[in-house]
Amino acid sequence: MIVIHSVAQMQQYARDKRGEIALVPTMGYLHEGHASLMVEARKRAKYVVASIFVNPTQFGVNEDLDSYPRDLEHDKEIAEKAGVDVIFAPTAADMYPEGYQSYLNVEEITAHLCGASRPGHFRGVTTVVAKLFNIVAPKVALFGKKDFQQLAVIRRMVRDFNFDIEIVGMPIVREADGLAMSSRNTKLSPVEREQALCLSRSIAAAKAAFKGGERSVAALQKVAAAMIEGEKSPQIDYLEFRDQDSLLPLEKADERTLLALAVRVGSVRLIDNSILGED
Ligand code: PAF
Repeated sequence: MIVIHSVAQMQQYARDKRGEIALVPTMGYLHEGHASLMVEARKRAKYVVASIFVNPTQFGVNEDLDSYPRDLEHDKEIAEKAGVDVIFAPTAADMYPEGYQSYLNVEEITAHLCGASRPGHFRGVTTVVAKLFNIVAPKVALFGKKDFQQLAVIRRMVRDFNFDIEIVGMPIVREADGLAMSSRNTKLSPVEREQALCLSRSIAAAKAAFKGGERSVAALQKVAAAMIEGEKSPQIDYLEFRDQDSLLPLEKADERTLLALAVRVGSVRLIDNSILGED
């Protein structure tokens, strides 16, 4: 495995291997969820590139850009084990040189859920992902479904901008107790780590009610929210039942309905989601 820090060097590699690269874009502090994307990438292309870049343009002014966890040495170990050929870890100055002024924006589906509570977030995500697509020139790129809206936004961008890249969404990887894996989990105190289980419990409660025949979104919302409101510290940012393609609100739920939630546990904002009819 090699580590490339320069955009120009990455572009040279991409030119040599054109049509044979799978890309796993990440912000680093890798965990088993990222590793599952890398292992799948290995099956889908001759060369696997994992980008590690804490992208400043997707963080709001009061967000955790500076405190976002970073550890390149630990990331190298995980990536190497997962079969990655190249880690692309550019600097912010190389990605956004002085005078930088171009951004890519997907409109409607970024307006709600995480887009509503994090204005400008998806503009930063689509901008950096489009740049990574141009630099690495992958034939396939893999993203986790934990960021369900991000995946939907990227699929929309790829269709709208005619990127000739297959987008693969991979299942959420969870800790043994149900917490969805996230680099931000490491920022939770032991008490908050326990409280964070309210997200997966809330999903489980809504799914049990759905399985029991409940179809009213208002009723399902109450069941799911009760699992979080029972806890002292966690604060619901959103807890929504949505159409999984348009991400628009629904009154009646069905097997394909997406339950998506964002909850603040202490200072850490966690997200999780599930499709009601899926196990
Ligand atoms: O999901 C992430 O880690 C980031 O949003 C991504 C896709 C790497 C873009 O910075």
